[in-house]
Amino acid sequence: MSQLSLWRQLTHAAALLQSGHPVAMPTETVYGLAAPIDNPQAIEKIFTLKERPFFDPLIVHVSRIEDVRLVAKDLCGAARALGNAFWPGPLTLVLPRRDDLNPMICAGLDTVGVRIPNHPLARRLIRKAGPLAAPSANKFGKTSPTTVQHVRAEWSEADLFALEGAQSTIGIESTVIRVNESHENVRVEILRPGFIGESEVLKALDGYSKPVEVVRLESNLSPGHTPEHYQPKIPLVFVSEGSFPLSAEQVKKVRDHFRLSGVKYAEVLLNANPAVAARELYSQLHDLATGGTDFLVVVSKPHQRGDLWDAIWDRLDRAASLRV
Ligand code: TXA
Ligand code: MG
Repeated sequence: MSQLSLWRQLTHAAALLQSGHPVAMPTETVYGLAAPIDNPQAIEKIFTLKERPFFDPLIVHVSRIEDVRLVAKDLCGAARALGNAFWPGPLTLVLPRRDDLNPMICAGLDTVGVRIPNHPLARRLIRKAGPLAAPSANKFGKTSPTTVQHVRAEWSEADLFALEGAQSTIGIESTVIRVNESHENVRVEILRPGFIGESEVLKALDGYSKPVEVVRLESNLSPGHTPEHYQPKIPLVFVSEGSFPLSAEQVKKVRDHFRLSGVKYAEVLLNANPAVAARELYSQLHDLATGGTDFLVVVSKPHQRGDLWDAIWDRLDRAASLRV
């Protein structure tokens, strides 16, 4: 992309945002569907376009740490230390929100999720248009896009402008974290696992003035992290290790369950390096779901443990709609 066309794209995107139209933007995690936080019409459009329930709060993206105060009451203590360590990057901090922030962004909660993306186009767009609320640029519950082609395929029927970036380098959504800090200690709660795991968090807070514990919370504290999520266009079936290829009986079970007319299936294959596996995950779910395949299969790999593998398997677990 030439510099001029890039400049034109950014100017066009900023003008659309200002007139109340969401635009898609690349980030290093996944592509986002962005709207200015001070434009209620554009914020509401995000929910209607995505068919997203209003109980699911949006993440606000800012371009520098000083701007967190535009949406959150304070960023201090261990939360600030985490921001300093991981921003710009794939970390979302859930912070006490400012009273003047549009409550639709936060789904009526008294907190706001904030992130500084590490992507030059996203940051330039934010500098032009101000803080942007942006969920992943997919319909609610579906696979997030990691290329501009995925975005265009998802929104082929909507008149949605997408800033053209390369493939997202991280490939899965940010780690969502809430920090509970008292006089005595710090409890870091991981509400959605992601590229930044427990060990990186502990390393970043090593030497902090209070004892730190990190916990993974499986609850509705992150309202949008529903059990059924990230789902590809065709069914994804989870099979246990050792039962691949599928037996005739398993294939019949899948066909009957989804009332499929054909039984052509493709396997989701994960690279042995979890960073590469994460980067390629959604591309595989998008690409394998086209071209006459009836369903997808992922074979469980219980030995793939560790922060990033856990984040990847969290996605696959929610993306699968049947186990055989
Ligand atoms: O990497 C990402 O986070 C991408 C890119 C575009 O930045 N965005 C993204 O947004 O994944 P979305 O809306 O698809 O997922 C946001 C998640 C949801 O599970 C939501 O419930 C949670 O973050 N979340 C947002 N604000 C929250 C809050 N105040 N408290 C708890 N969870 C929150
Ligand atoms: Mg999403």
